[in-house]
Amino acid sequence: MSMRDVKAIKNIVKEHTEWRGSCINLIASENVASRAVREMLISDLGNRYAIGFLHNRFYSGTKYVDELEGYTTDLARRVFRAEHVNYVPISGTMANLVLFNALTDPGDVVTALSVIDGGHASFRECSKIHGVSLVPLPFSMETMNVDIGEAERLIARVKPKLVLLGASEILFPHPVREIRRIADEMGAAVAYDAAHVLGLIAGGTFQDPLKEGADVITGSTHKTFFGPQGGIILCKGRYAKAIDNAAWQLVNNHHIHRVAGLAVALAEFLAFGQEYAAQIVKNAQRLAEYLYSMGLDVLGSKMGFTRSHEVIFRAPNNNGDASAKRLEDANIITTKTPLPTDKTEEECSGVRLGTQEITRLGMNEDEMTKIAEFIKRVVIDREAPSNIREDVKKLAAEFGEVKYAFEGGDEAYKYLSL
Ligand SMILES: Cc1ncc(COP(=O)(O)O)c(C=O)c1O
Repeated sequence: MSMRDVKAIKNIVKEHTEWRGSCINLIASENVASRAVREMLISDLGNRYAIGFLHNRFYSGTKYVDELEGYTTDLARRVFRAEHVNYVPISGTMANLVLFNALTDPGDVVTALSVIDGGHASFRECSKIHGVSLVPLPFSMETMNVDIGEAERLIARVKPKLVLLGASEILFPHPVREIRRIADEMGAAVAYDAAHVLGLIAGGTFQDPLKEGADVITGSTHKTFFGPQGGIILCKGRYAKAIDNAAWQLVNNHHIHRVAGLAVALAEFLAFGQEYAAQIVKNAQRLAEYLYSMGLDVLGSKMGFTRSHEVIFRAPNNNGDASAKRLEDANIITTKTPLPTDKTEEECSGVRLGTQEITRLGMNEDEMTKIAEFIKRVVIDREAPSNIREDVKKLAAEFGEVKYAFEGGDEAYKYLSL
């Protein structure tokens, strides 16, 4: 009986892998790791503990883990140009919780974007867990960005301990320099959630929040940064101890197979990151321009649509859920998203697209034209999704290999046999 269960489970995973390999993935928060990264994830490290700090572990058996983590830290500091790095959090959400624990006390005020304006649910959940009050940062639909004039007045009034920038829906760089100046007058810390744009920051195509004045960056290592799923914190040296202690308290047993995967991805990023990040943004801009020219209400049109990996459009009838479902039927995977004009988070008038994964698989501007045409046929022309599916599969089949990595020729989604 149990062997049958194992076979059934393997089969589900295999079917998932084959199906997703025949889709074009435009989810802005996903990516594909290289074969070399995946190799690290299935290594013996996934069976081991390394509780504690570098060269100061609670368990024996960690001499190679210390070597690995020393290496990983050096690589990460180079790639992210950061004084201090902590990759213990196992997700971006956990990285935010570490940030809240390290930099605020219960009863403090934190300001960050609300979910409707692009902020992430973890801002709210971490506030609740840690007992701080979250006050939404003002947002302007005109600039699709933090409204800096209103933010200045708000910060003077509520006196936050921490101003958190960054977002899930992030088309344009956030005003880190301006917020730094305002926060300094209030004695507040400035953090930046780079879960989405970490790879663009590392590749030098987006803003560099640490250089612009942020004290701490939190992030995920698997969105525009193409590592294994996980969290990371980058910070100025003076916050290192507080961050390391909070991370250790909240995670305790961090995942060292993921650290090895991250190290390999960092090495890949040093070699290919700039070219990859620049292409992501070019692809997003091309995709947005085409969708707009075909009649879709793409956000940010007055500012060139996007400077990140994301493209966001208002769905017909303000029904992002229906558009995302029709697109999925055509093997195009996207996310419904709330827009700042929605009354509740659940309304989701928009659809969010991301170009980072298709870029990693080698797609360039020419393919963006084709994808825009597929989306138009589904969303504007309302052609039956099944009509488009075969064309989508054909395009996906041409781009099954991970690029911007050291090895070539391996099919990205092939079921990994052990
Ligand atoms: C801005 C932002 N922060 C944090 C997270 C959470 O990251 P993770 O999914 O790695 O927990 C996300 C997820 O999409 C996000 O968009």
